[in-house]
Amino acid sequence: MEKIALLTSGGDAPGMNAAIRAVVRTALYHNLEIYGIRRGYQGMIEGDIFKMDTTSVSNIIQRGGTILKTARSKEFTTEEGREKAYQQLKKNGIEGLILIGGDGTFKGANVFFGEHSMPAVGIPGTIDNDIAGTDYTLGFDTAVNTAVEAIDKIRDTAEAHDRMFVVEVMGRDAGYIALNSGIACGAEDILVPELDTDFDAIMKRISDDTRRKKLVNIIVVAEGDEFGGAEAVRQKIVAEFPNIDVRATILGHIQRGGSPSYFDRVQASRMGYAAVNALMEGKTQVMIGLENQEIIYTPFAHAIKQHAPLDAKMIEMAKILAS
Ligand code: F6P
Repeated sequence: MEKIALLTSGGDAPGMNAAIRAVVRTALYHNLEIYGIRRGYQGMIEGDIFKMDTTSVSNIIQRGGTILKTARSKEFTTEEGREKAYQQLKKNGIEGLILIGGDGTFKGANVFFGEHSMPAVGIPGTIDNDIAGTDYTLGFDTAVNTAVEAIDKIRDTAEAHDRMFVVEVMGRDAGYIALNSGIACGAEDILVPELDTDFDAIMKRISDDTRRKKLVNIIVVAEGDEFGGAEAVRQKIVAEFPNIDVRATILGHIQRGGSPSYFDRVQASRMGYAAVNALMEGKTQVMIGLENQEIIYTPFAHAIKQHAPLDAKMIEMAKILAS
């Protein structure tokens, strides 16, 4: 193998740049030619492929976003689009691929490599932390820290006004950011897509809290929760308790940006380094993961089939600790 290419796909995540840096520098160390593909699978279809060198990745380890840019490509979901993408790889003499992304990226990869043969290794990069085959996905640590900082600020103003806040964090299908930021901020309730919410129990708790003059309440809700996010939850509460001042705040994309934490930078460096080494050892169609701090390899098909499990007992614990 002499020429490999690298792309980032799906939602960006802090730490992607650190992983790009590690892949490029490890590839060059092994005398491989390394090519960047801009805008993920869409750039692959369009042949937006360029040669990278050591200076291409200078001064990026601390930056959020991805210097390769990213996209959610509709065209790649078609057989015709994937065929075009494959022809572009062939045209550019690419012999191996490294993919950095989330669930959608590995779903796409699984279909693509079912149709076309090429060695490929994945790196899990998504703030959602929802991929099976790894305890950890790049960007999660930074995103949770961003959410925690924001919720702490909300609690200051909530305390000052004796208000209740429903704070929406990201996670269309996954509650990891909600669970972890909720615990870290002492949230009174945490609502996640993975678990049914007993709304009556929340109403009872609010009623009990009001009776004992505990007026400040923070409820953290993942965007994909069954009730439809912070505003919907706020309205449900106000319908029951018209006298409570309840506000909704959506944190949104601030959770995706920003300088990666030390943890994301270190794990990104480890995973990028391991991905190139795995390709060189002949491993293929596997995603690099971390299990008990050790690097492991999980087939793409397995990584997307299962959702990483969320510990329901942690929500119970959060409620007890915040009561
Ligand atoms: O997958 C990461 C994520 O940030 C999810 O938490 C969120 O639901 C989604 O991406 C938002 O994607 P987009 O920025 O494309 O709307």
